[in-house]
Amino acid sequence: MAKVKDRLKRPLRDLRISVIDRCNFRCQYCMPAEIYGPDFVFLPKSELLSYEEIERLAQIFVELGVEKIRLTGGEPLLRKDLPYLVKLLSRIEHLKDIGLTTNGVLLPKYAKELQAAGLKRVNISLDSLKDELFGQINGRNVGVGPVLKGIKAAQEAGLGVKINMVVKKGLNDSEIIPMAQYCKDNHLQLRYIEFMDVGSSNGWKMDDVVTKKEIYDILREHYSLVPVDPDYYGEVAKRYRHQGTDIDVGFITSVSESFCSSCTRSRLSADGKIYTCLFNGNGHDLRDFMRSGVNDRQLAERICEVWNGRDDRYSDLRTAETVANRKKIEMSYIGG
Ligand code: GTP
Ligand code: 5AD
Ligand code: SF4
Ligand code: SF4
Repeated sequence: MAKVKDRLKRPLRDLRISVIDRCNFRCQYCMPAEIYGPDFVFLPKSELLSYEEIERLAQIFVELGVEKIRLTGGEPLLRKDLPYLVKLLSRIEHLKDIGLTTNGVLLPKYAKELQAAGLKRVNISLDSLKDELFGQINGRNVGVGPVLKGIKAAQEAGLGVKINMVVKKGLNDSEIIPMAQYCKDNHLQLRYIEFMDVGSSNGWKMDDVVTKKEIYDILREHYSLVPVDPDYYGEVAKRYRHQGTDIDVGFITSVSESFCSSCTRSRLSADGKIYTCLFNGNGHDLRDFMRSGVNDRQLAERICEVWNGRDDRYSDLRTAETVANRKKIEMSYIGG
């Protein structure tokens, strides 16, 4: 099958698959507890793509050019038997990489099984090393211990590990150096993520963003950092290396230095809709279409049609007006 490009000539290289919209955390910047309370209605099981349906779609995406798949949520490890899905996906020919983005709490239970099933890497979210602050940020009063255990379990299982830290002004910017030191000491790549205006429930304001430049200036007072070339075309993080080591630190600069021109990411929601941008709330159904009995070629044509029509570059165009007025999708539904 021919490889497909969008209207800005960007190929389709990555697929981020959300397997569940639920999470055991209520991070303030993603699923604030006031909104995602006991009465919040999540997707029922019948609405979710089955693992076999995900496998079938993934196979078609790979034929259209996808080389990397990342499993996300909500919290993907809350979905039953996730290692089984990894196993199905790892059999797909020409797929180069399978990763998982998780809050880490369930990794002590699943890391070994995931690795054995073919998972290569995990990206684990951790925004602070202080129990009280972390408990406040994750909205569930969970201390740092369970996440640190998850990180260790992933390393011991032989998985590649990156740590994601969302930095919000006045909340956890005091943790920039302690996190850098913890990651350096434990041989982990840390990525600082600029707080983004995803969804419409996290009360985002430009004033809350700590930019890459601000973080870099703080780091420079403590460490010698050397810029590193991207690992692959379209890598999201800009990376630097602690001089004299092989330990990197990265920045995900969606707000201060957008990276839309090389954005090759498609997103599949847990209920089987394709999204062409994290900030474009217009999902394109694949699930009902697939369940209506169409063949793989028809599914491929539908995916091509969506990708060919794509012209998203939200972060390039972000203004106060787009922040306020755009219909957006929640991060917990689409998995970042
Ligand atoms: P690898 O580079 O493969 O390790 O993964 P990744 O950084 O693409 O994935 P991860 O799930 O760890 O994402 C880290 C952060 O980058 C999250 O906050 C994502 O929302 C953000 N991010 C990833 N892709 C995009 C994108 O296309 N646009 C924007 N604006 N943010 C993104
Ligand atoms: N801004 C930036 N990053 C976010 N994440 C969740 N919500 C936001 C936001 N509003 C991050 C999580 C996780 C990754 C997938 O996205 O911390 O590491
Ligand atoms: Fe859950 Fe991750 Fe969202 Fe936090 S950022 S609520 S851990 S999905
Ligand atoms: Fe890609 Fe949209 Fe993010 Fe730009 S804002 S990098 S187009 S997902």
